[in-house]
Amino acid sequence: MRSVIDTLDLTVEEIQSLIDTAEDIAHNPQNYAEKCKGKKLATLFFEPSTRTRLSFEAAMLELGGSVIGFSDAGSSSASKGESVADTVKVISCYADVIAMRHPREGAPLVAAHNASIPVINAGDGGHCHPTQTLADLLTIHREKGRLDNLTVGFCGDLKYGRTVHSLIAALSRYTGIKLVLISPEELRVPGYVTKGVINEAGMPYRETESLEDAMPELDVLYMTRIQRERFSDIDEYERLKDSYILTLEKLASAKSDLIVLHPLPRVNEISVKVDDDPRACYFKQVMNGKLMRMALILKLLGAVDEPDSHPIPDGALINEICCHNPACITKVEQELDQVFKPVAPGVYRCIYCESKAKI
Ligand code: NCD
Repeated sequence: MRSVIDTLDLTVEEIQSLIDTAEDIAHNPQNYAEKCKGKKLATLFFEPSTRTRLSFEAAMLELGGSVIGFSDAGSSSASKGESVADTVKVISCYADVIAMRHPREGAPLVAAHNASIPVINAGDGGHCHPTQTLADLLTIHREKGRLDNLTVGFCGDLKYGRTVHSLIAALSRYTGIKLVLISPEELRVPGYVTKGVINEAGMPYRETESLEDAMPELDVLYMTRIQRERFSDIDEYERLKDSYILTLEKLASAKSDLIVLHPLPRVNEISVKVDDDPRACYFKQVMNGKLMRMALILKLLGAVDEPDSHPIPDGALINEICCHNPACITKVEQELDQVFKPVAPGVYRCIYCESKAKI
């Protein structure tokens, strides 16, 4: 069973083929209007969403399929204490593909291990958000004409911003990418991204607190919201929430062909005055997200016979240690094995949330 839990579940070739399909859908939508006739998408959203859920639903409807699901954990049996594993075993009897958003990191992987239909991760806690990355990649490809040789600045909440983690992982496989990571000290990119992805790929990067300093060198500026719901200390959120606000004045030192991206929702980190600047591409990203989700649904529904894409890795430690991340799905899912994959000699990471094991 083929599921997409992490950006790296798709090869560079597969991403290019999704981009090609998305472009074809954009130009010839009538050719796709019945491609998923008789098929059902289940949207299981245990956490608030506007764009991602409606984008998945619009994508399936435009492919001629139908949609079932819920948009609030309170209206599902999760509120009665049902596990993710049981929920998806049930949904597998009703639908052909699942899109799941969950506040717990690793919940969609638990779903992939238990469902008999493909699972798409629509965002798990502060961890990953691979389909937003597909929207981002199509936007960069359309606007810049390439996915390599770019200096990409990520600005804002790089610690909890799951879209940042997934896009960095995707970019790590293209050549000539330089990263500028712009955040307050407290909201830097987590270790599993810097050590596990950026260093592993040998991508040059620098960390800075100054958006103004970084601006002139950037080809892409990826702004993010400070993720209020993930802070355990609300005073820290209050202190950091206005760290970066992109204005027309700050854009004055940027390249004329810079593109400004944002996964949305925006709070106040981009002034609305920037929206009319030709470099602002965040509303184009929304349309591109729907096109890429259409391409992905088509791909997964056409590949149901492929082998399990998320087997337990060789050399994994099972139930020998416990994950220490309080946001990990292992903290709440009934009788779930604690599984740690080896990533370097003596170094293990939880397969669900990627936190490093303390041995
Ligand atoms: C993002 C998310 O949910 O992570 N939104 C989205 O899916 N487009 C970004 C955010 O919530 O800040």
